[in-house]
Formats: sequence, C-alpha cells, structure tokens
Amino acid sequence: MSLKSKIIKVPIIGRIILIFYRFKNALPYSIEPFSQMLKWLIKSKETTNFTYDLTPMNKKYLASTVAVITKKPVLLIEKFISELNNDTELKKHIISGILHSEEKHKADLKIYFGRRLGWYAFVRATKPKIVIETGVDKGLGSCVLSAALIKNAEEGFSGKYFGTDINPKAGYLLTGKYAEVGKILYGDSIESLKKISEKIDLFINDSDHSADYEAEEYRIIKDKLSDNAIVLGDNSHCTDKLFDFSISNNMNFIFFKEEPFNHWSVGAGIGIAWK
Ligand SMILES: C[S@@+](CC[C@H](N)C(=O)[O-])C[C@H]1O[C@@H](n2cnc3c(N)ncnc32)[C@H](O)[C@@H]1O
Repeated sequence: MSLKSKIIKVPIIGRIILIFYRFKNALPYSIEPFSQMLKWLIKSKETTNFTYDLTPMNKKYLASTVAVITKKPVLLIEKFISELNNDTELKKHIISGILHSEEKHKADLKIYFGRRLGWYAFVRATKPKIVIETGVDKGLGSCVLSAALIKNAEEGFSGKYFGTDINPKAGYLLTGKYAEVGKILYGDSIESLKKISEKIDLFINDSDHSADYEAEEYRIIKDKLSDNAIVLGDNSHCTDKLFDFSISNNMNFIFFKEEPFNHWSVGAGIGIAWK
C-alpha cells in the first residue's frame, strides 16, 4: 500500500485532532518571537543592524568556540567576554556618540554587543597586529575591536584597526582614544582592501552582504593574510562563501550561531576560518 493511500485512510476526525495536537506543540515556538517583536516595536528605535544580548548559554558556547580555535583556556575567554560586557567606559562612549549623532532617533541607548563579544575575544586571545573589519555602520564593531587592541597594548601587544565603509558618514563612534588605534578607510571596500600592504592577522567581512561581493573580499585578502590569520564572516548564516574559501585555502571552518536574548531576531553568527 502506498503512503498516500495510508494517509487517506486515517479517519477525518483523527486527522483534525492530530492537527490541533500538533498546533498546540508548535504554537509556543511562534508566539515567543511574536511577543518579543511587539515589545521591541515599542521599546526599540532600531531600523537596521539590530543589536541584542546573547543568552547566557550562548555566551558560554561562544567562549568555548573561541577557546578551541585559539587553544586558550575557556575561563580566560570567558574573562575577556565579561571584560567587554563590563566596560562601562566604552558603553558611555558609545551612548555619548549616539546622542551627538544625526542617527540618535533610530539607535538604542542600551548597548549590547551580540556576536561582537566573540570578535573582541579573538582579538584579546590572539593579540593581532593588524585587524580589518569591512563595513562599519555606526562603528560599534570598530569601537569593540579598538577597545580590545587598547587592552592588548596595555599588556605590551600593540595592534592597529582598519575599518572600511562606502558611506562617508559611517564610523562616527570611532573617536577619542578608540580612534588612536583605529582608522576608517572610506570608499568601496574591495578598492580599500587592494591598497592594504600590511599582513592581516584578523579579518572580518561585514560590508556588502551579497555572496559575490563577500567572496571577492576573501579573494582580495587571500595573499595578504599572515600565517596564523583568522578570518571571520558576518554573512555565514546566509552564504557558504567563507566555507568555500576555507576549503580552497586548506583552512578549518566552523560556524557559531547566535541565540539572541529577549529579542525576536533569529540571530546571525560568526563564520570562522583558521589554519
Ligand atoms: C551590517 S553593516 C556593518 C555593521 C558593523 N560591522 C557593526 O559591527 O555594527 C554594513 C556596512 O557595510 C557598508 N557597505 C555596504 N557596501 C559596501 C561596500 N561596497 N564597501 C564598503 N562598505 C560597504 C554599509 O555602508 C554599512 O555601513
């Protein structure tokens, strides 16, 4: 008997009861994000590049991911993550930057770093000399990465940050002491990357999120990577371009998936390629 004829033979009343039973099972998974979305509509002002905290468990898994890749103790990586979460000076700097910007009507003043906690931990754990982030938006990642470089410099490991953005108004948060270790290169990211002459230790792709553009960024930086370079993709929840890059360059690849805390978003993640 075919599967189709078996299904047809289930009594219609049984089928209806089953639908209601299964609906009851699935409903909470749909209601939760919907109710988060309603709260967010009232409380948040963000229209793009949404920010949120990660669940406590997700932060532990992030720490573990960074620990395995950098071969550092997970407790040390958790310390780095807490260091950023507790950096009140940085949070005040970001809030002040937002309040003085043209974008204050569409940015939130509760500062959450999401997956950037992982970016920070990578910088603290590996002490890179050159960090590049393509696509900076207001400069939240720029400040996070520069803050990590400042802490590294206090421990005797200096490094420089370069962000790229096509929008001349992007990166407005990168001021004060954070701008002393970091700089935004304005213009098309591919063109800016072509001009980089230093070896790159940590590269983060987060500019034009089309798959082809992402792949082109990896192609351009391929020969500029240092021996132990780590490449992070902010687009790896949407494309497999960093995975492909890692395979063709004999690198390892892992994807860390964000689990947003009290937010409707399903989250993005961090694609990670390393030798
Ligand atoms: C998702 S946002 C970056 C978010 C940022 N990394 C952060 O941590 O918040 C993407 C940014 O990429 C920039 N962008 C888009 N296309 C670009 C291109 N071709 N070259 C350089 N920047 C680009 C946009 O202007 C935008 O600011």
